Amino acid sequence: MGLKDLFNKEDKRQFAELIRPYCMTEPVQRLRQFPHHKKINRYDHALLVSYISFTLARRWCWDAQAAARAGLLHDLFFTECDNTWKLCMTHPETAAENAGRLVKDLSSKERNIILSHMWPAGRHLPRSREAWLVDMVDNFVTILDMTDRSPKWSCKLNAVMGAL
Ligand SMILES: [Fe+2]
Ligand SMILES: [Fe+2]
Repeated sequence: MGLKDLFNKEDKRQFAELIRPYCMTEPVQRLRQFPHHKKINRYDHALLVSYISFTLARRWCWDAQAAARAGLLHDLFFTECDNTWKLCMTHPETAAENAGRLVKDLSSKERNIILSHMWPAGRHLPRSREAWLVDMVDNFVTILDMTDRSPKWSCKLNAVMGAL
């Protein structure tokens, strides 16, 4: 299955319906101001992690809502990436705190997905299959970001989010 197969009409519709209210919030939109992994911004990175996690979880009948919401919020922090070990270790905790403030019904599973997304770095172990999934997808999207392959997918996704 290629990345292309993940962009079908039904996936896009369900994802947009679920995630759009969170995307439209000020804190999530503010992520556009922060460069992330070379040329991409943090919002586009988070949206792509969220979308791929959602579609895979949906295919496998896992908790697609948790994968999508936590995927979107996993990097909800507002400082520049300085590539230090300290930021690498602490930003999941900052993001979990910010996510809890933004989404009142954030579940403990979603909180753990955010906290553990840097595993094996960081202090938190993934405790659900969705947490392992988002951890892997974040790594995958990071490779796409660093090799300039993510902008074309981000373009598609931004069109999906804007189309509603
Ligand atoms: Fe992160
Ligand atoms: Fe990330």
